[in-house]
Amino acid sequence: SVGNMNVWNENSSSKNLIPRLQKVRHNYLSMNKYNVTYAGPKNTARPIPKKLLCQLRDRVNVTMIHGSDGPFSTSEWQKYLPRKNFSQEVGHLGQCAVVSSAGSLKNSRLGPEIDAHDAVLRFNGAPTRGFQQDVGEKTTVRLVNSQLITVEEQKFLTETLYNTGILIVWDPAPYHAEIHEWYRRPDYNFFANYKEYRTRHREQPFYILNPKMQWELWDILQENSLEDIQPNPPSSGMLGIMIMMTLCDKVNVYEFLPSKRQTDICHYYQRFQDRACTLGAYHPLLFEKNLVKHINQGTDENIYTYGKELHQIH
Ligand code: C5P
Repeated sequence: SVGNMNVWNENSSSKNLIPRLQKVRHNYLSMNKYNVTYAGPKNTARPIPKKLLCQLRDRVNVTMIHGSDGPFSTSEWQKYLPRKNFSQEVGHLGQCAVVSSAGSLKNSRLGPEIDAHDAVLRFNGAPTRGFQQDVGEKTTVRLVNSQLITVEEQKFLTETLYNTGILIVWDPAPYHAEIHEWYRRPDYNFFANYKEYRTRHREQPFYILNPKMQWELWDILQENSLEDIQPNPPSSGMLGIMIMMTLCDKVNVYEFLPSKRQTDICHYYQRFQDRACTLGAYHPLLFEKNLVKHINQGTDENIYTYGKELHQIH
């Protein structure tokens, strides 16, 4: 019943995590793999949602790598990068859906509602076939991480799942790195498989996210948190929400903030269970969810019943 709705608390603290996840967060804080040196404001009151939306719009530059970006301005790379720029390719979009891969999508029967959007963004290896009732079948954009396209077992080059929609791959750069430095030492060296995929699928648009955007977004996450967040890039989910917010008039996000179906089952398409999938380990996911709850323009009832959040940045 709606009378007893328990939805995400936007002031969730890492202190309420299970000890294992608290420890993981501390380990990432001391490791500081990406040499984050955050100098911005801390522990200040969160601005009102409208202001925060303006900050996201003005400070996070959602751009894709193009032929004029440093190491990519070679005749070799011109053969592989998509000819059209990203915004030309997608055009202006009205109503968009972002579908997290959370286990709580199971038995949601949200498929028809999701498919009714002008564009749908999905993540990594999230399938639609066999799950249409719950997640729909339309895929306009698929955001994948560099690990997925690099590691052999993931079958990125051969699974037909990846052959629909516009692909975007992202890979973390060090906090202060310029494109050149990142290009020399990406987290996963996905460039060879990117080129191979482009050779096999000439007609499918496939972009590389400019890694600067991840830290522009991370800074805003840190500014709006009362504790130190993991010094690692935001999750694919948060990046996808941000990408669609810049492209679309309205973005409905499904099961990023957990609904009444919240579960430790990591993905709707697997049986594997781990609370870290919902609350974060490597990614500052807890703090991403705090921010997303704060700027949600939809109702708590929609979160509770449908795991649905609404965002409008323009
Ligand atoms: O696991 P994967 O990164 O492919 O999932 C896509 C995104 O969905 C995650 O980056 C995360 O933001 C979100 N997610 C979630 N809760 C889960 C599983 C995924 O919020 N249980």
